[in-house]
Amino acid sequence: MAYIKLDYEEVVIFLEISMRYNVCSADKSDYTSEKLNPFPKTDAFKELENLIGLKDVKRILAEVTAFSLIQSRRSQMQLKACPNALHMVFKGNPGTGKTTVARILGRILRDIGILSKGQLVEVERADLVGEYIGHTAQKTREMLKKSLGGIMFIDEAYTLAQGGEKDFGREAVATLVKAMEDHRDNLVIILAGYSYEMERFLRSNPGLRSRFPIHIDFADYDVDELLSIAIQMYADRDYELTCSARWKLKNHLQEFVRNRHPHSGNARYVRNLVEKSIRLQALRIVDREPLRRKELVTIEEADLPDPELVNT
Ligand SMILES: Nc1ncnc2c1ncn2[C@@H]1O[C@H](COP(=O)(O)OP(=O)(O)O)[C@@H](O)[C@H]1O
Ligand SMILES: [Mg+2]
Repeated sequence: MAYIKLDYEEVVIFLEISMRYNVCSADKSDYTSEKLNPFPKTDAFKELENLIGLKDVKRILAEVTAFSLIQSRRSQMQLKACPNALHMVFKGNPGTGKTTVARILGRILRDIGILSKGQLVEVERADLVGEYIGHTAQKTREMLKKSLGGIMFIDEAYTLAQGGEKDFGREAVATLVKAMEDHRDNLVIILAGYSYEMERFLRSNPGLRSRFPIHIDFADYDVDELLSIAIQMYADRDYELTCSARWKLKNHLQEFVRNRHPHSGNARYVRNLVEKSIRLQALRIVDREPLRRKELVTIEEADLPDPELVNT
């Protein structure tokens, strides 16, 4: 069978063009016309691109987005469209970017017309599971109502299977499964959590597994990625590091990676470290007068906290 192989870069360019201009237009030449009704001015796709690393995640999302776009173009031309099953499983340790990516994905799916609102509703077991008969269905339905038009992101989803046969978690899952059928066109559900626990959860529940066709692994970041994330976080906040601070930070992160465990926090640890250093810098310069711009933006070696002072 002949097929056209799009590589990742091509898909990205295609998606950028598609998002900037009205994808509903059948005429390709319209893409180059500035007059055309431009796509809602969100930069969600750029934001995804700007995330450090996550190459495989970006690749899969380009694939998923391109697929959705093409299916809607096919429907417009009265061609058969494959059902759009966009429910996903995000597997990975804390701080690997799962929530961040889900939030951006909601906006991308809104921009290309798959979801009407694109909001992310973050829920955990306690938001779905109640304490008496009837309570769970009511709580789950309430959360579903908030999520319609967007993404329901269930963090540590495997906890829904904890508590055995009589646990109300099962009822929550059943209510979710029904909603996935009823609102298949305007609701995406993402189950997130540690890889091992999520695998076990899905294995114990084959019906659930088949309803979540897209699995994305979020790997732990390496030292260079953590350093780039830190530098990006400083830049976003209008701070910069001296050379020696950068060197100390790199050593700190090397140490962090050497000793890390699944709960260490990855980029979340980096965020805590960045925020702590910003407070320490403030403490160092707060009684200086005058305060110049340079002093306000510079993070020095002395501002970087010792590892035991960073919350994980
Ligand atoms: N690839 C990345 N590039 C830049 N910042 C990131 C990246 N991954 C995570 N972060 C930042 O790290 C923090 C934790 O990420 P989050 O999405 O909450 O992780 P998770 O949901 O997997 O626990 C957030 O502040 C997020 O912006
Ligand atoms: Mg999260």
